[in-house]
Amino acid sequence: MSIKLTATQLSMRFKDRVLFHIADLSIGPNDAIYLKGDNGVGKTTLLKILSGLLSPSMGSVSQSRTWWRRLWHGRAHRDVIYLHQSPYLFDDTVYQNVVYGIRYCALSAKDKRAEVITALRMVGLETLADEHVSVLSGGEKQRVAMARAWILKPSILLMDEPSASLDQESIKRLVIMAKDLLDRGSSLVITSHQSNALTALCKKQWWIKDRTLIESPLLHIVKEEQENPYVTSLSN
Ligand SMILES: Nc1ncnc2c1ncn2[C@@H]1O[C@H](COP(=O)(O)OP(=O)(O)OP(=O)(O)O)[C@@H](O)[C@H]1O
Ligand SMILES: [Mg+2]
Repeated sequence: MSIKLTATQLSMRFKDRVLFHIADLSIGPNDAIYLKGDNGVGKTTLLKILSGLLSPSMGSVSQSRTWWRRLWHGRAHRDVIYLHQSPYLFDDTVYQNVVYGIRYCALSAKDKRAEVITALRMVGLETLADEHVSVLSGGEKQRVAMARAWILKPSILLMDEPSASLDQESIKRLVIMAKDLLDRGSSLVITSHQSNALTALCKKQWWIKDRTLIESPLLHIVKEEQENPYVTSLSN
């Protein structure tokens, strides 16, 4: 599951406006990064560039993969997945939305079903598997999107404000999935305007400030674990 993503001399500008210039950055293997910064500094733009959805004005992004990763590339796994704040779900049931990512992978129908049910159980939505997504609440839709991302076992999951409108129960469900991916060797980048149980998983901070990226270790973890036993129980 481990890949390393690196970027060098990354610049983004819209017309004459330089959004950021980042001399170098790297993600992975097995990183958990909290990306913060004021509204409009370019967090979403950076995540889209790192996932390949957007081309930078300058610079490049490259991946290093292990040989076995290269061998398995394109089968059940995806390398880098961007999880949008307002995820787009297909006009179908919860089940169909989650199974979509593994529809062509070489698992039997029974095993695919088992994977989907496991994913839905992790986000607490197994009883809604046959419901149409249009009846779901915003938080439930976010959980379906997370299940759909998890099922692909991405090497790097870029989560753009995943907890923006979620209650504690929904955040707890995302934490369970995020922690499972970290335990499998994946890396996460999480943007958020508030620290919570999800950002408490992060060991590193990226701060977009003054049009560049400042990286630092996150020292809040020990303190938050002492103050919030819930975080401790999840990280053990
Ligand atoms: N396609 C585009 N054309 C022109 N400007 C754009 C385009 N995409 C983004 N921008 C601008 O780039 C800036 C950064 O946007 P971005 O969405 O990356 O910010 P952000 O840090 O994610 O903000 P927030 O915290 O509000 O989500 C914004 O001012 C936005 O208007
Ligand atoms: Mg954004």
